Amino acid sequence: MTQMKTVLSGIRATGTSHLGNYIGAIARFARMSQDPRYRCLFFVADFHTLTTLKEAEQIKKHLPNMVLDYLAAGVDLSHSAIYVQSDVPQVTELAWLLSCLTPVTHLEGLPTYKDKREKHPEDINAGLFNYPVLMAADILGPRADLVPVGSDQKPHIELTQSLARRFNNLYGHYFPVPGVLPDMVLVPGLSPMDERGGFAKMGKSDGNTINLGDTPEQTWDKIRVAPTDPQRVHRTDPGNPDHCCIFALHQYVSTPEQLAWSREGCMSAGIGCMDCKRVLADNINHMLAEFRERRMQLAQKPDVIRDVLVEGKRQAEVLFNETIEHVRERMGIRRWGS
Ligand code: TYM
Repeated sequence: MTQMKTVLSGIRATGTSHLGNYIGAIARFARMSQDPRYRCLFFVADFHTLTTLKEAEQIKKHLPNMVLDYLAAGVDLSHSAIYVQSDVPQVTELAWLLSCLTPVTHLEGLPTYKDKREKHPEDINAGLFNYPVLMAADILGPRADLVPVGSDQKPHIELTQSLARRFNNLYGHYFPVPGVLPDMVLVPGLSPMDERGGFAKMGKSDGNTINLGDTPEQTWDKIRVAPTDPQRVHRTDPGNPDHCCIFALHQYVSTPEQLAWSREGCMSAGIGCMDCKRVLADNINHMLAEFRERRMQLAQKPDVIRDVLVEGKRQAEVLFNETIEHVRERMGIRRWGS
């Protein structure tokens, strides 16, 4: 029998999860956890959350919600674990060891860091700079083979890959070089087209999200007022679907027939934007219906979260401890006092 591959991914506790998190990450986690080829580890990245969120009460509030999201999406715990990053503090030890192999120039060049520096010049902390090294420790700690993430995370995974290679070259082969899924996506937000002809990603801090916890009515209200092709002023004006975030979103939730209907109807002015938006909202609500229902039921059972996290910590710690011992020994950082 071939060995199970280790799948690992995390999500920050920065707020309510949105459709981008669901399509790019959480729904994939659930599918992979149900696949017997994989042993999965999913966690809430609370240390990473601190790089941008400073309100302690907010972090405490959001964290259990992330665990509920994993469970409601259908993460199967028979060969998976869910844990909290800070419950396994060995990750920070490994991050330090890895940081000594990380070129500062690589961190400075990462688009995520540059982007944060531009958007939030008032809070460029060292944690933000080192964010990708901690992420590498998350991934290499349990020696993960596969990391399902949205394509915004690709540069971070590339850093992890180069750190795995660098360690293996310097100290002898130990880490698998983790891979990503071939079909990573970046779901656009409810935003107008930008100057480069693209759409901003759906992001928690960008005010352009459809949240998993929104009701069907709230989902419709957001889609109803979302911007469309600015050239299509009147119902009778033909539009360009490639200039419209509604059409961009259709591609993630609609059938090929609906896509053809939307493209053709927009270009010929055969349908109005509201017709197109209605179908999009219905499809999103349909896709999330089961998740939302399960999420409400799980919220009534707070003990579930605790039990899941206790077991998750136990499993993750075993894997991290093994790695830390190997890495310390190879790097010459022996335990002298114990
Ligand atoms: P976070 O919380 O920002 O995002 C969690 C996951 O959701 C994906 N995502 C999206 N996917 C598609 N379209 C979007 N619009 C969209 N927005 C977010 C992200 O790509 C991510 O997969 N740095 C990670 C958390 C993390 C991590 C790790 C992930 C910390 N350590 C180790 C994997 C492995 C992050 O982006 O969280």
